Amino acid sequence: MAQGKETEPEARLYTCTRSVAAALTHVLCIAFTAFLVFVSRPGSSLFSWHPFLMTLAFSFFMTEAILLFSPHGSPLRKFTHKTKGRIHWALQVLCVTCAVVGLAVIAYNKHLNGKPHFSSWHGLLGLITVCVVGLQSLAAVPLIYHGLAKSWSLAKLKRYHAASGLVTYLLGCGSLLLGLCSAWFTGSVSSYTWYLSALCPALSALVIMDQVSRTYTAKKRLQS
Ligand code: HEM
Repeated sequence: MAQGKETEPEARLYTCTRSVAAALTHVLCIAFTAFLVFVSRPGSSLFSWHPFLMTLAFSFFMTEAILLFSPHGSPLRKFTHKTKGRIHWALQVLCVTCAVVGLAVIAYNKHLNGKPHFSSWHGLLGLITVCVVGLQSLAAVPLIYHGLAKSWSLAKLKRYHAASGLVTYLLGCGSLLLGLCSAWFTGSVSSYTWYLSALCPALSALVIMDQVSRTYTAKKRLQS
């Protein structure tokens, strides 16, 4: 009883901190995507579609696809888990589509300009990220059609999907950060704006890491 009284304010502080962090992440991922629209002006050149589509894919669609499962900051808290799963699936399809088109655009742009491919850390990590996000999406199919992987329990599949999804998300944030280090971006913004921009994927990564690892460890504790 006494212990319950002691933990009550802690629990409230815990919920409040996580709600604020999740709300801040929604704002950051929308603001960051809007800012990249402003800087890249999609349509002004072939290249301009690359930063725009990649930011839309990883900062907006993927962040929102994961945040909708947040117990503290989901805009769909009142919806059933099944509905959330369907919306997550739709957002991930949009993420992969934008990522693949964004990769095709930059590769074609480089080809037109006779530049070497995947010659920077950003280009290399970016390529790995797009491949991993494609694989992650394919590996998620048995979550919808469980018959495809009958020997694995659904709970196990979900755990692996969450863990590999977190790795994919972190790769996305890493690629975004390296994209911000490109000569194009550093030459387009002031140093103050650069630091503010870099904070967006960095903070989102921390919040998503916290959300996924906590959900995962809580489920493991319940199962043991
Ligand atoms: C997760 C998001 C991103 C991924 C997966 C990604 C992926 C890639 C890949 C694979 C290349 C190399 C293409 C080739 O060599 O044929 C590339 C190039 C490039 N990206 Fe990104 N990108 C992302 C976000 C961004 C952002 C946000 C910016 C700008 C702020 C950006 C700016 C550039 C620039 C300037 C190049 C050409 C120079 C270079 O190869 O480093 N990218 N990107």
